Amino acid sequence: MGKNVLVVHASPRLKGNSNMLAEEFERGAKDAGNEVKRIDVGHARIAGCMACEHCFKHEGQCCQQDDMQEFYPMLHWADVIVFATPMYYYNFPAQLRAFQDRMFCGIAKPFKIPQMGLLLCFEDDNVERCYPAVNSLKVCADYCKQEFIGEVIVPSVYEAGAIAGNPGLQKAYEFGASIK
Ligand SMILES: Cc1cc2nc3c(=O)[nH]c(=O)nc-3n(C[C@H](O)[C@H](O)[C@H](O)COP(=O)(O)O)c2cc1C
Repeated sequence: MGKNVLVVHASPRLKGNSNMLAEEFERGAKDAGNEVKRIDVGHARIAGCMACEHCFKHEGQCCQQDDMQEFYPMLHWADVIVFATPMYYYNFPAQLRAFQDRMFCGIAKPFKIPQMGLLLCFEDDNVERCYPAVNSLKVCADYCKQEFIGEVIVPSVYEAGAIAGNPGLQKAYEFGASIK
């Protein structure tokens, strides 16, 4: 049968390292019979949540008319959401943080995405420095009663394409293929 898998890719570098992780993950997920859709938020026009609570009074509709309006139906479609992202400032890029904050209207009209995962790359050689950012996502998944189904973390890559040949790409493929 397969699941609806939504990949949210957060780098403005469309041919960069997190894109390569996302592509391998997507290939694995498709090979396993899932349907896969991708959102590239790196160049999307997404403002932050204004906490106006318009969505609470309007069946989950956000009043801000930007690219999120195109993405909300995909969030209602997904069974699995996987963030594919570089680390910026020991957190996630602002474009992805805006996307996540704008999922707030999912409180008013739940998205019902039971599973979440992460593909992460960054320059630092010390993998432990990404744990606070990774943990923030895990805490959020727990709060939202989502199962955190896996992560692929690749340190020590900076230039676009530096991830070529890294075992993380095979792990991303296997992670995708494990979704059934
Ligand atoms: C604005 C910016 C902030 C960054 N901050 C960090 C950081 O805090 N820690 C780190 O290890 N790497 C940091 N990096 C490096 C990226 O995480 C790294 O180059 C990554 O491989 C980029 O992935 P991409 O090719 O998918 O864009 C930063 C890069 C940029 C452009």
